[in-house]
Amino acid sequence: MGFNVAIVGATGLVGGEFLRILEQRKFPVNTLRLYASDRSAGKKLSFMGQELEVEETTDDSFSGVDIALFSAGADISHRFSPIAAQAGAVVIDNSSAFRMDPQVPLVVPEVNPKDIHAHNGIIANPNCSTIQMVVALNPLHQISPIKRILVSTYQAVSGTGSNAMEELRQQTAQMMAGEGDQITPKAYPHQIAFNALPFVEAFLDNDYTTEEWKMIQETRKILHDQEMPISATCVRVPVYIGHGEAVNVEFGRPMSSKEARGILSKAPGVKVLDNPKDDLYPLPIQSVGTDDVFVGRIRQDASHPNGLVMWVVADNLRKGAALNAVQIAEVVIKEEVLSPSMRR
Ligand SMILES: NC(=O)c1ccc[n+]([C@@H]2O[C@H](COP(=O)([O-])OP(=O)(O)OC[C@H]3O[C@@H](n4cnc5c(N)ncnc54)[C@H](OP(=O)(O)O)[C@@H]3O)[C@@H](O)[C@H]2O)c1
Repeated sequence: MGFNVAIVGATGLVGGEFLRILEQRKFPVNTLRLYASDRSAGKKLSFMGQELEVEETTDDSFSGVDIALFSAGADISHRFSPIAAQAGAVVIDNSSAFRMDPQVPLVVPEVNPKDIHAHNGIIANPNCSTIQMVVALNPLHQISPIKRILVSTYQAVSGTGSNAMEELRQQTAQMMAGEGDQITPKAYPHQIAFNALPFVEAFLDNDYTTEEWKMIQETRKILHDQEMPISATCVRVPVYIGHGEAVNVEFGRPMSSKEARGILSKAPGVKVLDNPKDDLYPLPIQSVGTDDVFVGRIRQDASHPNGLVMWVVADNLRKGAALNAVQIAEVVIKEEVLSPSMRR
């Protein structure tokens, strides 16, 4: 049995990963419709050896669609997701549009798959930085509840979209050619090549950034603990793909690095790479195109007896976006919660 699938934002970075991942995981696709803006209408993208034409997203795009994977930004999700859900599709939305809506489950399949049952036609995919952190922390949280999280991220430019990747390439070429004085930043307010920008997205009135606030709020929603103390500093670095996170976590009791390694080595979706003597630790460049969340540098927090520090890396376009969304779709199919009307 196959399902009628639509991808909104098919021409984007995450859209491209959707196509690859549906193919790689042999997702049961009956028909696949590709949508983007009017600029891309008529463009061809390949899937399972076939060339499929991209169409402009309109109000009429969703009739007969079972699963709609959205990845075209919050405005497009706000506009078209309710229409798609109304037409009978389950929407899995990669944008921030509905993540904190109490009526919309926010799901990481390794962590809170049962939350999917509460959906009313839309399921939200969390922010990329949040996903990889909760995949790494939840197995430990299940053994000893977390009391506090402090996280600093080192985020790749692909998190901003294809324009930012091209800008990093151009700026790097300009710097190498000795033409750094001719750089005019567009994707960010400052040059990203050979630099690190201490913010991701936009600043809020409380001096945090939207990305940092998403990490705080989304982690609490996914782990079902609205009071969990969390603080985040999100930094953009000149890496194409693969977010790194230095995570400092405090438990209710001491947890040795050996115990944590043992728990994480059996955890779903996690791969422990932790042998610093052999220079083995997670690297963003090695995460590209992979599905796991990599954890290493696990060690005692020298400032707190109940604390651990670790380094967490994942491909932000795959586990941070498209893969997690496809895994949600797989749970939707397995748990038979395809559309609200099918629920008992
Ligand atoms: N990159 C990441 O790591 C990441 C992680 C998690 C979530 N996300 C989210 O995923 C979304 C897309 O990210 P991306 O990195 O793939 O961006 P991207 O490479 O810039 O692609 C944007 C996509 O949105 C489409 N689009 C733009 N305007 C549209 C319109 N009016 N109607 C329909 N489609 C339209 C574009 O189509 P055209 O080609 O026709 O312009 C393109 O397919 C964003 O919401 C982002 O926050 C990204």
